[in-house]
Amino acid sequence: MPPDAPAASPYPWRMDDLVALCARRGLIFPSSEIYGGINGFWDYGPLGVELKNNLKAAWWRRVVRERDDVEGLDSAIICHPRTWEASGHVEHFSDPLVDCRACKRRFRADQLDDAGPCPARPGSSEHDWTPVRRFNLMLKTFIGATEDAAAVAYLRAETCQAIFNDFKRVKEVSRQKIPFGIAQIGKAFRNEINPRNFTFRSREFEQAELEFFVHPAEREKWFQHWLEERLAFHRALGFAEERLRVRPHAPEELAHYANAAADIEFLFPFGWQEIEGVHDRGDWDLRRHSEYSGKDLSVTDEETKERFTPMVIETSVGVDRTCLALLANGYAEERLEDGETRSVLRLHPALAPIKVAVLPLSKKLAEPARRLERGLRRRWSSFYDESGNIGRRYRRQDEVGTPFCVTWDFESDTDGKVTVRERDSMTQERISADGIASYLEDRLEVGL
Ligand code: GAP
Repeated sequence: MPPDAPAASPYPWRMDDLVALCARRGLIFPSSEIYGGINGFWDYGPLGVELKNNLKAAWWRRVVRERDDVEGLDSAIICHPRTWEASGHVEHFSDPLVDCRACKRRFRADQLDDAGPCPARPGSSEHDWTPVRRFNLMLKTFIGATEDAAAVAYLRAETCQAIFNDFKRVKEVSRQKIPFGIAQIGKAFRNEINPRNFTFRSREFEQAELEFFVHPAEREKWFQHWLEERLAFHRALGFAEERLRVRPHAPEELAHYANAAADIEFLFPFGWQEIEGVHDRGDWDLRRHSEYSGKDLSVTDEETKERFTPMVIETSVGVDRTCLALLANGYAEERLEDGETRSVLRLHPALAPIKVAVLPLSKKLAEPARRLERGLRRRWSSFYDESGNIGRRYRRQDEVGTPFCVTWDFESDTDGKVTVRERDSMTQERISADGIASYLEDRLEVGL
């Protein structure tokens, strides 16, 4: 069992229940499902893409737009191949691998607890392991019409290397001075030996990364600043306090480039696991890219005239892992007073895929209810549903985390009022239909 796996799940539901809900409601499901799926690749359906976009927007707003000292970037996925030599990925970015000669399966040598008994050796059930060898995790491709060594390129294993490549240009065009940061959100690819735990360890995933460039004398101050800032972000997303912790890295754990590092971890059903890393990467990246590109990436302090290579404080969060943590944190099976159970996703309203559902009490009331919903959809993702009894329609919305349902009933035409039902408390209040937009405005973005 992995060191941090709990003896019993810390959640009163099984991981399979959450995975099933995600598939059933179109949040997340296996990629290329009609061909039997492809291990380590996942698709986000109509509701999943809304959740993911809302999370990315919250990150972008907080890390880029609300700050004077951070600039945004959207770089190409494929960088010049020398980038990955400079970064150390070609040499170091590998996991220890073993094969079983009997069952032909392949495992990470440091995760053999996952292997279980060997299905090809029923008598002994022991695997017949090969010696350990290193397996590079970068996904390769070829550029141009030839497929020889000179045409090899890599799908980026992390988004940050392009930030280092573009450091000088972004600094110049934005006229930023040290300290300042460059942030981007984008896909990363790793040929993981054992993708597992749903989307937690995938072969294609998204990262939201910030590289913050500082004077060497200020690196500790900024490391602390960003660790606290990132923790505050995760709290604002609504993670329960007892499911969030910071784990500083021991010196022997540090990546080849890192001088200090801490993981922000979430308590998943399968144990405490990293969702974000905060690293003091020192001047490793800019120094190496200077060396490999031949371009000087040092800067001059305009006041003191000191010339130095900035140190980098990095915050790197997995978008997919955070989505999974949000789903796990929010998912509950509740027994109601009438003896029924409901599944509910308690997502922060700003993250919920659908913000408001409009439900006419009868199909006869469709016209004014549709008009109300169309008025709301320009601002918020909304949903119109007239089928089934009202209780079932509420349940369908609870299950995907819709924070507010608005019911148009037989009195609404005459008194101009609608009933708003809140997801978590299930309380209902009657308010003016004209006031519904400002009602939502006051409640949807709170705290994020
Ligand atoms: N630039 C630093 C970097 O990439 P990392 O710890 O390897 O550091 C950062 O990755 C974050 O990316 C992790 O905290 C995790 O959330 C996410 N991540 C890494 N590998 C992943 C994978 N195979 N599947 C999903 N997310 C992954």
